[in-house]
Amino acid sequence: MLVAENITKFFNGFKALDRVCTEVEPNKLTLIAGPNGSGKTTLINIISGFYRTDEGHVFFEGEEITNKPPHEIYRYGIVRTFQIPQPLKKLSVLENLLIAVDNPGEGIRGCIGRAWEKREGEIIDKAFKLLEFLEMADLWDTEAWKLSGGQLKLLEVGRALMADAKLIIMDEPMMGVNPTLASSILDKFMELKKHTTFLIIEHRFELISKYVDKLYVMVKGRTAEEGSEEFREVINMLCFK
Ligand SMILES: Nc1ncnc2c1ncn2[C@@H]1O[C@H](COP(=O)(O)OP(=O)(O)OP(=O)(O)O)[C@@H](O)[C@H]1O
Ligand SMILES: [Mg+2]
Repeated sequence: MLVAENITKFFNGFKALDRVCTEVEPNKLTLIAGPNGSGKTTLINIISGFYRTDEGHVFFEGEEITNKPPHEIYRYGIVRTFQIPQPLKKLSVLENLLIAVDNPGEGIRGCIGRAWEKREGEIIDKAFKLLEFLEMADLWDTEAWKLSGGQLKLLEVGRALMADAKLIIMDEPMMGVNPTLASSILDKFMELKKHTTFLIIEHRFELISKYVDKLYVMVKGRTAEEGSEEFREVINMLCFK
């Protein structure tokens, strides 16, 4: 579904990524793990168009998307969340979900003549179903700035799901979320895999490992070979920290 080939990225002469290759298969959960500063966020910033790659190529469903801007990549159905959630703070939880709805592929002409009221009702319905799914329904009218760190993460998850993403890319979605809630969210991701695909960066390996279909381990800007010494070292470090 998504193929990143030989991605190399320099920041002022510092090589943050060195010929990184990753492949994401549809309806699977792919995890990128690795120590701080190993290049995980940089890689997904390149895939989602927030950074330009210096070398290499990214393909989505067979089409090259290398260095396309974020709004174009979003229209392919690739939606990402951030390590630090970025809601519109003065809007309510519900409003934050409603504005996440975009219609990838639907141009201006598609909008004309659309029965907006009907669609608005559908969208609100969908938002409330999602809030129930995420166990946040009672917070629907709370302004985003009042949410806890964990609740903000959940709101980010909700926004990606509202946009009907084909591929949801998440940077540490479980950070600040209590273990019980994190497990229940991950159980829900398993249900959602029927309809979408996940590419996730997560440090809390003990929580997520049993949900992972494919694992990449990054070390100093490179992907460690599966089963290699450094691969095992990183997994051990993540398991026992
Ligand atoms: N915009 C930038 N400008 C300069 N250097 C950067 C920039 N973004 C990342 N880097 C550097 O690139 C390297 C990889 O950073 P990155 O944020 O991708 O790591 P990470 O694996 O996501 O780490 P963490 O687990 O702490 O989130 C780091 O050395 C970082 O300092
Ligand atoms: Mg990061």
